[in-house]
Amino acid sequence: MRKLIFVVGARPNFMKVAPVLRALNTRGDLPWHPWLVHTGQHYGEQMSDIFFEQLGLPAPDVYLGVGSGTHGAQTARVLESFERHLMELNGGAAGVVVVGDVNSTLACALAATKLQIPMAHLEAGLRSFDRSMPEEINRVATDAISDLLLVSEPAGETNLQNEGVPGERVRYVGNVMIDTLCWELERARNLNIKRELGLNGRYAMATMHRPSNVDDQQRLTQIVEFLNKISKRLTLVFPVHPRSRARMAEWGLHDSLAENCAVRLIDPLGYRENLNLMAGATLVITDSGGLQEETTFLGVPCLTVRPNTERPVTVSQGTNTVVDGNFDLAMNLVESILAGSYKSGSPVPGWDGKAAERVSDVLINEWRN
Ligand code: UD1
Repeated sequence: MRKLIFVVGARPNFMKVAPVLRALNTRGDLPWHPWLVHTGQHYGEQMSDIFFEQLGLPAPDVYLGVGSGTHGAQTARVLESFERHLMELNGGAAGVVVVGDVNSTLACALAATKLQIPMAHLEAGLRSFDRSMPEEINRVATDAISDLLLVSEPAGETNLQNEGVPGERVRYVGNVMIDTLCWELERARNLNIKRELGLNGRYAMATMHRPSNVDDQQRLTQIVEFLNKISKRLTLVFPVHPRSRARMAEWGLHDSLAENCAVRLIDPLGYRENLNLMAGATLVITDSGGLQEETTFLGVPCLTVRPNTERPVTVSQGTNTVVDGNFDLAMNLVESILAGSYKSGSPVPGWDGKAAERVSDVLINEWRN
């Protein structure tokens, strides 16, 4: 039987592919065998293995082991290695599904398209309109060469339409990441991370890893000052991405947070632990795409430290505000949140825990042969 290949590479990919594989495996009539390729862009227990364990992802059928590197080197290593595997399958690939906007997404999309293997992009059409973000380049380039564009939020459809993409290539499937959230929420709520971290009462949660925030010394200094300021109002929990930890140490910013007893600086969390903390937080401060969506679904106020978002529904209908580097505005919003006068969100179409079933329907209908 031919193989339908799913690609994961980095942390935000795992929770998007897990529900689709689960949904496909409940179908008795699959015309192909689902196959999982892990590029190894993210690796190790904290950034990769724990997600496979918690989300019930099967062990990858192929592990490319590309690891870290510059954008060019990382993308090139994935491209070369994935192409070799596709060629070894010798016509045995019925299609390739890539997700999100990481370097592995673009590299695998390029390899598949050039070998004329049908290719679908899950989470298509999102645009920040900011080409200084590596993810934006990955999104635009991947969408341009995908046969099927599976869209997660209303702006995705509008953007693709404005770019002249024929409507028959586009399907609104909703948000598969919310499927994972719904699936895991009860198990996550049963954890008691608050007690493990010695948290009493209300707390804020922060995550920060974008190059524009953490690779710029002035910006990272401002962010650390802002986080210290918030900690005067409520305890702050900050799971630190490896690149952020390295930069904070390099620029002498680590200790002011680590020595602040109202701040818990912790290692990156597993999916469930992260969900437990996020669901119980009074507010979230982030530059992650995923957390903007998850907080909107959970109804938790979110302040996004970026100049823009490719996920505008989280602002127009959800609980997100884009604050960029305006930390005075951000501090005012923190006060509104604490006073209970911040906006509350409304549900987004297709963020209902059933997106993976819709993805399965599309793939089976389109790629049966
Ligand atoms: C990548 C994605 C970003 C996503 C983020 C989630 C791209 C362009 N960016 O950014 O969209 O939001 O993942 O985390 O693909 N490192 C480790 N262990 C790991 C992985 C990385 O220590 O398992 C360190 C390495 O020093 C590495 C650095 O983190 O150089 C950056 O990792 P990389 O995968 O290049 O990009 P992210 O910043 O994680």
